[in-house]
Amino acid sequence: MIRPRRLRRSAAIRDLFAETSVSPARLVVPLFLTPGQGLSEEVTSMPGIFRNSPDRIVSVVQEHVDLGLKAFLLFGAPAKKDPLGRSAADLDGVVPTAIRLLRETFDEDIVLLADVCLCAYAEHGHCGVMDGSGKVQNDATLPLLVDAATTYAAAGADFVAPSDMMDRRVATIREALDAKDLGDVGILSYAAKYMSAFYGPFREVAQSAPKIGDRSTYQMDVRNVREAVKEILLDEKEGADAVMVKPALAYLDVLAAARRATALPLAAYNVSGEYAMVKAAAAAGYLDEGRIVVEILTAVFRAGADLAITYHAREAMERGWIA
Ligand code: PBG
Repeated sequence: MIRPRRLRRSAAIRDLFAETSVSPARLVVPLFLTPGQGLSEEVTSMPGIFRNSPDRIVSVVQEHVDLGLKAFLLFGAPAKKDPLGRSAADLDGVVPTAIRLLRETFDEDIVLLADVCLCAYAEHGHCGVMDGSGKVQNDATLPLLVDAATTYAAAGADFVAPSDMMDRRVATIREALDAKDLGDVGILSYAAKYMSAFYGPFREVAQSAPKIGDRSTYQMDVRNVREAVKEILLDEKEGADAVMVKPALAYLDVLAAARRATALPLAAYNVSGEYAMVKAAAAAGYLDEGRIVVEILTAVFRAGADLAITYHAREAMERGWIA
């Protein structure tokens, strides 16, 4: 007789036949950098997540390495935002400074990814260059993204991760990296990035909310999934080494479609709003946080992700939720 429960009889049997696992090697930790000295500020809407000044970053990363976490996605902000967001490419900005310090200290023992976008650096808070009429200009944005990407790559990033959603940015960045003898630096593209309300807490961190309008002319429409496949295949053609779906939890169907469409490594970004919801519910005593976190990450991997970018990583290791 066929009895599915045979495969569930004991924990050891269940472990033997489990289809999915969550391994720390597959987790990427987002790190927020802020200009200054000796700063470590907790983000109000993201308990347990801090903005650190570059001088603190080596010890922060060391703590993660000691827990078994080795991949980091870096986000920065300038001391003063400028009209175009040119400071994203400032050689002495917080991101290149942190990358140089981390590379020197940890060499090849860690993986460094650098988010590439203008929104945290430009006064208007949009991901690209704005023209007089308030429209975001695609092709005028590309050289600025290239400047930022090549700056982070030259500082020692292993991957640059463009999150702006301008057309052709992967091809343009790839070409520039190759021309500058940075051919070993990879591109993890935010290929299917939706215009999502789940980014709310992040925008508080980076103070990157658009001053006027929204991101609907460049980020993807929440209603679309075939379009996500199109974006992913385009970025693959343009030379992306890995692609991302963002956010994660409300987009598991997109992850599954992406998994079927490409053989490239696939990342899922478990974003700030997803984290904030779990933290708030756990603080209120409504949920068992550890079980929820493992269930969410398992679901993301089950849907087809190879790696997950998540704010839960550190606590999950500290508290033994994953091992
Ligand atoms: C910048 C960027 C955003 C996130 C990653 N890169 C915010 C946005 O598009 O508004 C979101 C990260 C998160 O919410 O955790 N373009």
